[in-house]
Amino acid sequence: MESNLLGISFAGLSLENPTILASGILGYTAESLKRVAKGGAGAVVTKSIGASPRAGYPNPTVVQAEAGLLNAMGLPNPGIDVYSEEIKYAKTVLRVPLFVSVFGYSADEYASVASKAVEAGADAVELNVSCPHVKQTGAEIGQSPKFLSEVVEKTKAAVNKPLIVKLSPNVADITVLAQAAIEAGADALTAVNTLKAMAIDTETMMPILSNVKGGLSGPAIKPVALRCVFDIAEQFEVPIIGCGGITDWRDAVEFFLAGASAVEIGTAVADDDEVFRTICRGIETYLRKKHYGSVKEIVGLAHRK
Ligand SMILES: Cc1cc2nc3c(=O)[nH]c(=O)nc-3n(C[C@H](O)[C@H](O)[C@H](O)COP(=O)(O)O)c2cc1C
Repeated sequence: MESNLLGISFAGLSLENPTILASGILGYTAESLKRVAKGGAGAVVTKSIGASPRAGYPNPTVVQAEAGLLNAMGLPNPGIDVYSEEIKYAKTVLRVPLFVSVFGYSADEYASVASKAVEAGADAVELNVSCPHVKQTGAEIGQSPKFLSEVVEKTKAAVNKPLIVKLSPNVADITVLAQAAIEAGADALTAVNTLKAMAIDTETMMPILSNVKGGLSGPAIKPVALRCVFDIAEQFEVPIIGCGGITDWRDAVEFFLAGASAVEIGTAVADDDEVFRTICRGIETYLRKKHYGSVKEIVGLAHRK
């Protein structure tokens, strides 16, 4: 059966399969999270939520790039006090673990939003310390080992659920940030968020995104994300969620072989919310063909010397 081969225990949570909805795609409402879970996701992550409401950036906020998507949404969200009601409702309609993605402008703010999310029913918290296009949060925190440690330490002390730290690929050496997060108490890491990027309109001769720069996702970033996972797994024992450009089962398997225990899928879900089921079937067929009894057995195999 599918669950035998694909079931995992991740940072203390039981997942029926290792595919997870990434933050920001169909993750605003309980109903859209439910739709994704029905499409076969083993867990779902909400859109990143902050302390107070944010409108996000004016349009254009998304540009189709070659082999990917460029976005600068600007973290639009209703704020945790309003969103707590959505979390409570989501818990009544979801049968898979619910991860709430959190951002803030200080360590205290991250900790406070995370604790409210857990109070409302989050099964785990994912810290967005890696958004590449909003100043004073996101990557500005995730690029500094000192800030990152402070945020992780304070948040860890404020929650009694697994704490997952989502890292930025926009750094010279991701293992330095991974180490800071682990030493500060992260239970798991997600690698990675989007790559800082831009597009220019040759007619207007101006940047297309209203925010000028945004984050690149989709197949274009897969090799970078895979390298990040490989680098972290080479040095640390921590559970890793691989994320970036996963579109089919082969991509997912590459991430497992690099050292990820689970994968998050974002851009590919926008085209097809059944992508989780399709990918799971593919992984299962692959495992049977290779005579493995569980997806856990192939995690990190690409590191054999
Ligand atoms: C439209 C859009 C919105 C996103 N919003 C968030 C967000 O709110 N928080 C976050 O941590 N990541 C956000 N991301 C990043 C994704 O969760 C993911 O890390 C990234 O897109 C790489 O995975 P993918 O190639 O499968 O999309 C967003 C990505 C897209 C495309």
